[in-house]
Amino acid sequence: MSWLYRNTLRPILFSQDAESIHNRTMRMLNWVGRQELRCDAMHSFLGAPELPVELFGLRFPNPIGLAAGMDKNAEALPAWAAMGFGFTELGAATWHAQPGNPQPRVFRAIAEDAIVNRMGFNNLGAETISEKLAEWKRLNRWPKHPVGMNLGKSKITPLDEAAEDYANSFRVLRPHLDFFVVNVSSPNTPNLRQLQDKKALDEIFSALHEVQRGSTRQTPILVKVAPDLSFEALDEILELTGPQNIAGIVATNTTISRPTSQDLAAQKVYSETGGLSGRPLNARSTEVIRHLYRQSKGALPIIGVGGIFDAADAWEKIAAGASLIQVYTGLVYEGPTICRNIVTGLLERLEERGEVHLHKAVGCDARG
Ligand SMILES: Cc1cc2nc3c(=O)[nH]c(=O)nc-3n(C[C@H](O)[C@H](O)[C@H](O)COP(=O)(O)O)c2cc1C
Repeated sequence: MSWLYRNTLRPILFSQDAESIHNRTMRMLNWVGRQELRCDAMHSFLGAPELPVELFGLRFPNPIGLAAGMDKNAEALPAWAAMGFGFTELGAATWHAQPGNPQPRVFRAIAEDAIVNRMGFNNLGAETISEKLAEWKRLNRWPKHPVGMNLGKSKITPLDEAAEDYANSFRVLRPHLDFFVVNVSSPNTPNLRQLQDKKALDEIFSALHEVQRGSTRQTPILVKVAPDLSFEALDEILELTGPQNIAGIVATNTTISRPTSQDLAAQKVYSETGGLSGRPLNARSTEVIRHLYRQSKGALPIIGVGGIFDAADAWEKIAAGASLIQVYTGLVYEGPTICRNIVTGLLERLEERGEVHLHKAVGCDARG
């Protein structure tokens, strides 16, 4: 099926501008999501086998999630479960609605299975997205898997008011969602990555915890890190996880670094400003995951993301220490059977090892 996608549908999709085809696909998935019958039909083709994971007090039917940035405004929410995903991370949502950077702002380096983007957190704003979430619930179309939200900082908000900006979004979105991810690692909002600094991050988490202080339901909040951080900077973030009750780390966002390439078209794409994702990010993101797993002695849940295209890539991330994984670029290049293919491959690998539960494999290559 994935061969069929790569050789038939993909060339047609890739002949068009990346963002236009993304928007058209989202409209189609919105249409699918509005009716149970259409979702059921999609699930019968694309649904993945069960490989349950329990984490953050939530049950994930399988460990493959949709990475942030694909469904920023929760347009296609019910469709992701129908496509076989075990969880969805929506967003990034910002407190103020914003258009993002001028187009074009997404570029495919096809020969290298990579994308460069500088979207700049285009989204409808937290309040409107919250209304959309309420509508999916009203329509009885809420998916049967965990749904989280990636939170970004509004471009117009100065860095020293970032904590309040994140907290405002969190306040209006929290009633609907199972987990949150504080995104301080996108390269496409000026100076955002400075918020990975320990003191700034400390302020943001204090403000978020203040919002849910006294509430009986404590929503897990994770932080998403850049692959470009040094191990020392990652260790500083780890020092915060205990005191600030950070539920886990999403590793990693896109990179500002560029590989060398012999391919002229890829070179042109790499010269664009923005964050690079896909195959060239794979090794660095695995390295970051392994470091975080070792330093935290396996005690801190890690969501692994960066250049996952198949079960072998997914297994590598899990063996390095990821309890869950996510895909973005892999979905674009491999097509909608990616979840089913990865989960099937993970089940085969577990069976070869005589294991039933995925958590036995988490960090198996990072220990000792
Ligand atoms: C077009 C595009 C938009 C993205 N938007 C976001 C975003 O809003 N928030 C975020 O945390 N990550 C965002 N990402 C990063 C992905 O969630 C993911 O961390 C990164 O692409 C690496 O995974 P991949 O190699 O599977 O794509 C975006 C990536 C792409 C390609």
